[in-house]
Amino acid sequence: MRSHPDLPLAARVVGRVQETRDIFSLRLALLDATERAGYRSVPGQYNMLYLFGVGEVPISIVSDPDDGGPLEHTIRAVGRVTHGLERLRVGDTLGLRGPYGRGWPLDAARGSDVIVVTGGLGCAPVISMVRHMLRHRETFGFITLLQGVKHAEDLIWRRQYQTWAALPDVQVLLASDQGGMQWPHAMGNVTTLLDQARIPADGIAMLCGPERMMKAVIPLLTDRGMDPFRIWLSIERNMQCGIGHCGHCQVGPHFICQDGPVFRYPDIADWIDREGF
Ligand SMILES: Cc1cc2nc3c(=O)[nH]c(=O)nc-3n(C[C@H](O)[C@H](O)[C@H](O)COP(=O)(O)OP(=O)(O)OC[C@H]3O[C@@H](n4cnc5c(N)ncnc54)[C@H](O)[C@@H]3O)c2cc1C
Ligand code: FES
Repeated sequence: MRSHPDLPLAARVVGRVQETRDIFSLRLALLDATERAGYRSVPGQYNMLYLFGVGEVPISIVSDPDDGGPLEHTIRAVGRVTHGLERLRVGDTLGLRGPYGRGWPLDAARGSDVIVVTGGLGCAPVISMVRHMLRHRETFGFITLLQGVKHAEDLIWRRQYQTWAALPDVQVLLASDQGGMQWPHAMGNVTTLLDQARIPADGIAMLCGPERMMKAVIPLLTDRGMDPFRIWLSIERNMQCGIGHCGHCQVGPHFICQDGPVFRYPDIADWIDREGF
């Protein structure tokens, strides 16, 4: 047992998948059996992954909390820590603390139709939510999933999207800015998919990805009848502590690490996609 809830715990890499040239997934198991059994998260939360001697980064949990198995994280190698995490192999250990932050509004989503709109690897924070909704299928209404990527090869979870598309009461629409010969889906960015999408006027929207993309999608949803108070966004900022102490993640009055990363749109509307914030 750890002496303080915010101290990192040792975790072992029990699975690793290279998803694309620079994106990989790690499945992590806490070494301490009591901590492993007591670990609870909700979809949309993140862990701080700590590479000894290098540093620590916030990474979304992509496994469904009700899965009960290892914690899955999908990571793009962009800098010092994520390149270090990329070098981990099955059997290696790292530090993990969490789960942190506020996740998706499960209570509001229960019994509702849900539309999920994502861009790029921004989809990581919603993958656990989608998995959770499909595990508890009877609890949620129609599910619309829109995903946009820059290049066709950036589309990870490709097989999962295919499986989801074949399910009843699920619509999956995919788009890529640069598709290539083998790309069977739409060309362009994710906003081009909105016309064909089933948009639930009384439902819930969950958005994540580049803030400019989310800002472009919101009026397309509200023009089709969605209430801004039923639109939720997952926001990313540089983080250091994850527990509201350092101020690195502050956006206006909000600390993304604790008040978010998931926000109701009107609560964050003044602060997204603004230079300097
Ligand atoms: C709540 C939350 C959840 C996240 N979930 C995931 C995830 O599931 N998978 C994933 O791959 N990444 C995720 N990230 C982003 C990830 O934390 C950063 O990529 C990581 O911190 C970069 O650290 P580094 O040391 O590798 O790079 P650094 O050397 O620190 O930086 C490399 C480059 O990336 C930029 N950068 C660093 N952090 C961010 C950020 N948060 N947003 C935009 N640019 C950044 C830097 O400005 C620099 O240009 C998440 C971030 C947050 C806040
Ligand atoms: S990351 Fe330190 S206050 Fe949010």
